[in-house]
Amino acid sequence: MRGIILAGGTGTRLRPLTQVLSKSLLPVFDKPLIYYPLSVLMLSGIKDILVISMPGHLDQYRTLLGDGSQLGINLTYAEQDKARGVADALIQGREFVGDEQVALILGDNIFHGHDLAPLLREQVAKLEGATFFGYPVADPHRYGVAVLDNGRLVDIEEKPEHPKSNLAVTGLYLYDNEALDYAAAVTPSGRGELEISDVNRRFVEDGRARLIDLGRGTMWLDAGTHESLMEASNYVRVVQQRQGTQIACIEEVAYRMGTLDRAGLQAAIERVGAASDYGRYLRQVLGEREFAGSRR
Ligand code: G1P
Repeated sequence: MRGIILAGGTGTRLRPLTQVLSKSLLPVFDKPLIYYPLSVLMLSGIKDILVISMPGHLDQYRTLLGDGSQLGINLTYAEQDKARGVADALIQGREFVGDEQVALILGDNIFHGHDLAPLLREQVAKLEGATFFGYPVADPHRYGVAVLDNGRLVDIEEKPEHPKSNLAVTGLYLYDNEALDYAAAVTPSGRGELEISDVNRRFVEDGRARLIDLGRGTMWLDAGTHESLMEASNYVRVVQQRQGTQIACIEEVAYRMGTLDRAGLQAAIERVGAASDYGRYLRQVLGEREFAGSRR
């Protein structure tokens, strides 16, 4: 399976923060926002990932993440010349995906939870059609919303005025290859965008969509507004400080997923340096076997 991170858009709701910086490079507590969706794809076992962003921003991502070899993964980049909507990622990514399955994640979505990684790996392994992840929210009208009939997914409505459920369809989508054709057939919505919900509805109509309710055991945040960005930072800060573990430490994820060996982790520590909590944390991960016994 191939992965796509859509770090596109102009981030108009976050101006002036996004006047110069791309949204997914903004800090969420101690790391750039893109680390969070990137770590989700890595935890799903995906090693080939395409980052899509606006032309003026792409070099910033390249500078930050390079070709991925420092994580033992492959990162490539593609331009989206203007904000065309989420479904456009499947059009821009067509060649990259080839005839494989694809996981698409939005560059401002943060997922966290103890059971998330095994759940994602299980869903990737048994994917047929499309798998979506629902999350109960207080303000569903801001999202794609699942319409259920006796617990069965029967429709998805994009930002409905009167939501039929409180289950938002989060910005992580697992697809079979036909998603590429479905995306190519989508026409712009009223707001002039290629809506991902139009792709998703095709799978629902075919009876080939599965909705997993992430429920209360998982945290899902999107960092699309100043408030939600602040909430996300606070959440990460509280969890990390209480547990002494990092959320979305991509080098740790690579090490635990086995794409990065001890020498690679050591090299990462030298790159980051020991002046930051992040660098000190990586040192702790490296020394874990001697320090606290192996948790692998
Ligand atoms: C997009 C999708 C929406 C989804 C949301 C998740 O909305 O269109 O269906 O629920 O991401 O973050 P956007 O952020 O483009 O408004």
